[in-house]
Amino acid sequence: MNRTVQNELEDIKNRGLLRSTRLISGRQTAHVTCNGSEVLLLCSNNYLGLADHPALAAASIAAIRQYGTSSGASRLVSGTMELHERLEGAVASFKKCESALAFNSGHAANTGIIPALVGRGDVVFSDRLNHASIVDGILLSRARLVRYPHNDFSSLAALMEKHATGRSLIVSDAVFSMDGDVAPLVELARLKRRHGALLMIDDAHGCGVLGEGGRGSAELLGVGGDVDIQMGTFGKALGSFGAYAAVSAELRELLLNRARSFIFSTSLPPSVLAASLAAVELVQTPEGDLLREQLHANTRFFRNSLAEAGFRIPDGSTQIVPIVVGSAVTTMQFSEALLEEGLFAQGIRPPTVPDGTSRLRFTLMATHTRADLAGAVERICRIGRRLGVV
Ligand SMILES: Cc1ncc(COP(=O)(O)O)c(C=O)c1O
Repeated sequence: MNRTVQNELEDIKNRGLLRSTRLISGRQTAHVTCNGSEVLLLCSNNYLGLADHPALAAASIAAIRQYGTSSGASRLVSGTMELHERLEGAVASFKKCESALAFNSGHAANTGIIPALVGRGDVVFSDRLNHASIVDGILLSRARLVRYPHNDFSSLAALMEKHATGRSLIVSDAVFSMDGDVAPLVELARLKRRHGALLMIDDAHGCGVLGEGGRGSAELLGVGGDVDIQMGTFGKALGSFGAYAAVSAELRELLLNRARSFIFSTSLPPSVLAASLAAVELVQTPEGDLLREQLHANTRFFRNSLAEAGFRIPDGSTQIVPIVVGSAVTTMQFSEALLEEGLFAQGIRPPTVPDGTSRLRFTLMATHTRADLAGAVERICRIGRRLGVV
């Protein structure tokens, strides 16, 4: 192997940061077979369990029969199919917005949307803990990046007084993917209005889960009208794949003309579009309400049990429940020990989270049973004590 590549890999390994994949056999259900053994899945974003829902599978299969397996081209070439327009119409009415545009993934959405909105001479105010795809989008845009301390809207207000010039964009995860807390959207909306800025939220982890009908974080906090770009994904609670921007008709046209990840990439295939459409419909039904209730009840039980046992859990109330360990090496030991006892929870290390804040990130599903979670809590406490984490 090339020596510099070998050295780099050694260096990553020595810092306890080497990553590898684990093979899951079968479907993404609450219990999965991981590298040959059955384990409880505690790190999937399939929060409502829709990834193996029969309605999504049936819609997907029917779409392949009717429309085939590929869209064949970028949307602006020959790749806009009826299902793209039907899905975007459904998302617009779900999010109570004028229109929506589908993207191939959340990462593609963020790296496409942000450079379409801002460029040289503009400023982006970005929460320090925003998702990597937002950071990538800002870097691609060449706008000036001003990072503000996590959820600290007083600091953001001071930074905006000082730096807001040209076009300003405030961008934030709505539910923080590694911390599980919700952004102060009411205050962000107030600052956006005061400075005539644009406000974009990434609701990858709120869509389907929070707010009435699962409409997301902006609906929960009553600020839908103030958020210019509600980005969300189909690959998490919605059990499918891809992403959307829910926006005004004018902004949709701008994105369609400027977002390079939209323009220069083959569009989502019929099977995926149909599954997403079925999911958007399903989350607004009584079945969707029931799944959310189960998820929230599971979340409360799990969060309270770990907090009572003395673990360090960042403030929050969502289905993302991190235990902050600190050291990357101990985090991975914790994760390995849990796997040996039948629990699959992912260790999260830098650069995904800041140095010294490595953590186990647990995610709850509506389809976990109380017995699953009680057994998990017992093992997490026992192993956590053995490793000196609690
Ligand atoms: C907050 C956030 N935004 C964007 C993404 C990227 O979405 P996707 O997985 O669809 O690329 C993720 C996770 O993957 C995320 O957690």
